[in-house]
Amino acid sequence: MVSFTFAIASDLHIAVPETVWEHPQRFHLVEFSIPVFEAVLADLSTLSLDCLLIPGDLTQHGELANHQWLAHRLQQLPYPVYVIPGNHDVLNPAQWSDFATIYAPFGLQHSRPEWLYYAVDVTPEIRLIALNSNQYDDHGGVYGAVDDNQLAWLERTLQQPAPPLTLVMIHHCVLEHFPGHQVGFGHRYLLHNGSRLCKLLRNYGVQVIFSGHLHVQDAARCDRTGVYDIGTGSLVSYPHPYRLCHYDGRHLEMTTRHITAVPECPNLTEYAKEWMGDHSLPFVLKMLSRALPDVDLSPWYPQLRYFWATIAAGDADFQFPEVPEQVRIYLESFGDRPPADNQLTLSLWN
Ligand SMILES: [Fe+2]
Ligand SMILES: [Fe+2]
Repeated sequence: MVSFTFAIASDLHIAVPETVWEHPQRFHLVEFSIPVFEAVLADLSTLSLDCLLIPGDLTQHGELANHQWLAHRLQQLPYPVYVIPGNHDVLNPAQWSDFATIYAPFGLQHSRPEWLYYAVDVTPEIRLIALNSNQYDDHGGVYGAVDDNQLAWLERTLQQPAPPLTLVMIHHCVLEHFPGHQVGFGHRYLLHNGSRLCKLLRNYGVQVIFSGHLHVQDAARCDRTGVYDIGTGSLVSYPHPYRLCHYDGRHLEMTTRHITAVPECPNLTEYAKEWMGDHSLPFVLKMLSRALPDVDLSPWYPQLRYFWATIAAGDADFQFPEVPEQVRIYLESFGDRPPADNQLTLSLWN
């Protein structure tokens, strides 16, 4: 009988103290990245884990000291760890071979240094395919896409004999996780060729993708292919979630845990929620103004203070009975639709 237990922790954004970027615009609580990750590891040490998945943004911003700290810490763990790079980890292609070397013990030994993607049979029943979604534009910016060579490799890999269940891990979101994700600021969080990837995966019976990047705890299902994109929130953002997963050969059951306090911040949950309230309102207003250009949203700023924090936590249930109907309908459309985000069970057989 299959019994496979694993955890997902995403967007660790590890920053050793001397590297913490002190700037008023900083959105993430990287100063707590190490104690929060240590709290996760302490919790995981009480479980019998088969592996830990980390779908990218391992470091604050690709600093060598932070990569080295994390690789050293992962080396001490008693279970296998599999990582892929996020947009904050490899800022240009010249850094790819260093990333492959540093994280060779954590899946990258199965990749060529110039690829940063791999497939590995983690047990006789489970294959993990880890994709590299980092692409670079002409201005040095990073965007999310799976390039043609990687897609061709993926199809060849999917055609080979493999364990019965394949799980996919990638940094960028493959499916939309909130209304209007495709436009405005949300666009840079989405894989540019997500529908092509979903179609290819579905053709070979792959049903589940694990992503990160958006710092939002959200599960989405593609209407056309039935493929799930299970996004895990960030350990440096409210509400500091991570997932525990168990596969019994037919069902994948996922639960969510949170780090609510660390010695450096005993009221972490409240502190992080207020921090997100302080820092998210400008982009929330920008996002809402795009859809409601003629509406003065200022009377509802207090209600919108925790709008993004509520989305980030997953399973949002928005009620805005006091606002005009046009605005209310739009705001409430950000409430969650099935599948559930934090506690969910997927039936994985064809
Ligand atoms: Fe991130
Ligand atoms: Fe990211």
